[in-house]
Amino acid sequence: MPNPATDRALAGPVLVLNGPNLNLLGLREPEIYGPDTLADIEELCHHTAAEYGLTADVRQSNHEGVLIDAVQEARTAHRGIVINPAGYSHTSVALRDALAAAEVPVVEVHLSNIHRREEFRHFSYVSGVADAVICGAGAHGYVLALAHLARLLEGSR
Ligand code: DQA
Repeated sequence: MPNPATDRALAGPVLVLNGPNLNLLGLREPEIYGPDTLADIEELCHHTAAEYGLTADVRQSNHEGVLIDAVQEARTAHRGIVINPAGYSHTSVALRDALAAAEVPVVEVHLSNIHRREEFRHFSYVSGVADAVICGAGAHGYVLALAHLARLLEGSR
């Protein structure tokens, strides 16, 4: 008898979701966000996921509703979520609500150390519903996030 929850746990990809303006990585304030482009980060995520026997579905959107739709999709289609909510970290109750309902492990990533920056970046609505938060490690934060997600998923294999 197929069991959607178990089948997803065994075979589904992990969702790596990137929020607004991250499509401009490499061009946008490289002194803060580093030289890597989103395509570089995407490749890094595919490579890292494969090292842990996972596959990664890497997406980016500038639109809050599209990000929320992707998180809702993850409830049934993905094993876990790595999310850089970007500016929506600091504003979006709706994205937090979607993540709280996701019923899969969630790891939040920020390229920059948001606690060393402007005060409005110190609070993230997402952190309260994330299993782990990684910030300030640059693109390597995605490697750390996927490694931790793989660890959280070990029990469900
Ligand atoms: C960011 C930090 C956010 O404060 C900012 O709005 C971003 C990127 C980061 O990766 O460091 O767009 O999430």
